[in-house]
Amino acid sequence: MSKIKVGVLGAGTMGAGIAQVAAQSGHRVVLVDVNESALTKAKASLQKIIERLIEKGKWTEDFGNDVFGRINFSTQMSDFEGSGLIIEAIVENIEVKHAVFGQLESIVDENCILASNTSSLSIAAIGSVLKKPSRVIGIHFFNPAPLMPLVEIIPAVQTSDVVTKDARAIIDSWDKITVLAKDTPGFIVNRVARPFYGEALRIYEEGVADFATIDWAMTELGGFRMGPFTLMDYIGNDINYTVTESVFKAFYYDPRYKPSFTQKRHSEAGYLGRKSGRGYFDYSENAVAPEPAKDEVLGKKILDRILAMLINEAADALFLNVATKEDIDLAMTKGVNYPKGLLKWADEIGIKNVLQQLEELFEEYGEDRYRPSPMLKRMVREGKNFF
Ligand SMILES: NC(=O)c1ccc[n+]([C@@H]2O[C@H](COP(=O)([O-])OP(=O)(O)OC[C@H]3O[C@@H](n4cnc5c(N)ncnc54)[C@H](O)[C@@H]3O)[C@@H](O)[C@H]2O)c1
Repeated sequence: MSKIKVGVLGAGTMGAGIAQVAAQSGHRVVLVDVNESALTKAKASLQKIIERLIEKGKWTEDFGNDVFGRINFSTQMSDFEGSGLIIEAIVENIEVKHAVFGQLESIVDENCILASNTSSLSIAAIGSVLKKPSRVIGIHFFNPAPLMPLVEIIPAVQTSDVVTKDARAIIDSWDKITVLAKDTPGFIVNRVARPFYGEALRIYEEGVADFATIDWAMTELGGFRMGPFTLMDYIGNDINYTVTESVFKAFYYDPRYKPSFTQKRHSEAGYLGRKSGRGYFDYSENAVAPEPAKDEVLGKKILDRILAMLINEAADALFLNVATKEDIDLAMTKGVNYPKGLLKWADEIGIKNVLQQLEELFEEYGEDRYRPSPMLKRMVREGKNFF
């Protein structure tokens, strides 16, 4: 059976990576961008990636040439004609997305699936401009798309079951791990991960510990690959702050997602992280990394608090049917490399202990931010585990 032709709109960070993934899975790909220089850059960077893979012996030269040859770089959306799937990865702006989705429908035939890689806009809103809205879906890759195994599949209220099934099957065939998420702010990963940053920032603001100590607690005691401050510096404080702010607004200002002044000030000061040479840590050449306190008792307190908040978020996502328990745990291990699924982790710690920790925080601070999810209360009442 011949593979469908795939269109990718936007040749930036995400679009170029998605085009590579589709091409290496054997699809003919058209990568379109309004900006000629973005295409030139995407082409050069893909060539470099392929060369490196060949050098390392991971790809043969023939395979590399085939992958490269399957991608057509173009500035014309009309080249999408005949595609079975289009993935849009342009600027995160609903007006611009509306304009392109309106145009796409006049180029492709009625069976073509129209997907968006948006991180923060609703799929329902994007699909609202379509004549046939049942073909819209969210297909959310993680950066870098060729390396991160997870893809969130997000049907909107308008999406047909057939489109959801077909879209998932296509992405599964690209050797990705797909999870199904409800069209709610942050989908799974960008919602459930918020406390990893937010609670770490809060702990710092209260003067409980410094950046290095909090990072040490999460990596050494928690087994996370990167501490929250190192990770925020890696992502960029401007980007990470914007995601938090957009999730906060999208949840009608639920205090659980409240952004942090510390991060805002770092971002305003230009302390963006690695990319600006300085964030929470100094990345200049002769900089000396600050020593963590390495106090096990303090470290455990930090880890337990952040973990309880993460588990609460995962449990609440399950409570509100954002995804299945299996998909919530898969999303966090495959999308952001958590050492364990949060719900499985809760079983290991004891859901009762997690609930108790949250109740103590809620009691101490009196803030809605710390309210335990009804799901945790229910599990404890019924004496159940997640798995
Ligand atoms: N960067 C990430 O980590 C990440 C992760 C997951 C999802 N996303 C989402 O993916 C999308 C793209 O993000 P990105 O980081 O790749 O952005 P980017 O800025 O790197 O690339 C966007 C590209 O789209 C092009 N473009 C803009 N308007 C266009 C139009 N009308 N027609 C054709 N091309 C147009 C731009 O020229 C640019 O090359 C956004 O919706 C974002 O929310 C980003």
